[in-house]
Amino acid sequence: MVIAGLFFGWMLASPFARAGDASAGADVFKSECSECHSPKQGKNKKGPSLFGIVGRPAGTAPDYNYSDALKQAHWTWSPDKLHDYLSQPAKKANPGTKMKYDGLDDAKQLDDLLTYLGTLH
Ligand code: HEC
Repeated sequence: MVIAGLFFGWMLASPFARAGDASAGADVFKSECSECHSPKQGKNKKGPSLFGIVGRPAGTAPDYNYSDALKQAHWTWSPDKLHDYLSQPAKKANPGTKMKYDGLDDAKQLDDLLTYLGTLH
């Protein structure tokens, strides 16, 4: 527990952190995203690795076979863009995507999750 506390303390101090709670966000990630996504660099599952996702251009994780919809999405994953994308069904945010996710409608969980994603660098 002490080690986990130190670890999350370090993550909160990361310059990429937003206002949410990164350790709560890690739990949201585990329950909502980890079935399909790994936070580890280079580790693709059903979905691409989310290492360094904040600031990464869409559809560019190495060695991942994206749908045409995401390959042709010409945006960069800013915190605002991720907020917009994850707050609604993925198929609505990016028609044709193969991400099967209905969106996270709890505003606090979404904020915490975004803070956590910002620490993945
Ligand atoms: C059922 C599996 C599944 C779940 C659950 C899921 N995703 Fe995905 N995700 C995918 C797949 C598959 C893709 C690739 C989509 C494509 O190529 O169209 C993807 C793509 C993404 C992308 C774009 C990545 C890039 O490189 O452009 C982001 C960001 C993302 N997911 C975030 C999340 C987050 C955060 C969660 C949890 C809140 C989540 N996803 C839940 C399967 C999933």
